[in-house]
Amino acid sequence: AKGFVREVSLPQIHDPRGDLTFVEGGNHIPFEIRRVYYLYNVPVDSERGGHAHRELEQVVFALSGSFRMRIDDGTTKSDYWLRDPRKGLYISKMIWREMDAFSQGAVCMVLASHRYDEADYFRNYDDFRAEVESHQA
Ligand code: TYD
Repeated sequence: AKGFVREVSLPQIHDPRGDLTFVEGGNHIPFEIRRVYYLYNVPVDSERGGHAHRELEQVVFALSGSFRMRIDDGTTKSDYWLRDPRKGLYISKMIWREMDAFSQGAVCMVLASHRYDEADYFRNYDDFRAEVESHQA
């Protein structure tokens, strides 16, 4: 099946002392969280991503600031702006993603379904496309 993305909304406890949002494994995230990583000190002209994954699923959040996620399922491209810490983007396996347009001080947090494994990456776009096409028959 082709990859897909969808929005994940988290609860927010609004408070004049500051807002609070939480994430519960087994509740808000459609996979077991095995890894969390975050991007910070990102130069505003940085371009990240440029890969897809054979098995990895992720939910991506902008905890601070904003950035753009360019999503490509191998056939269709779409752009998502992440800027709300309560709203993540779920990214299934077999999605090519690129990230750019980072605001000053942006922090990107990623919840991931597996530990880091370079063998799970497609880092070559043509290889990714070929894999998508091989399942379209
Ligand atoms: P990469 O996934 O290419 O980053 P991005 O998609 O955000 O541009 O990873 C960059 C480098 O960091 C690469 O050498 C692999 C390493 N890395 C880890 O060692 N562990 C991790 O959990 C992640 C996400 C990356």
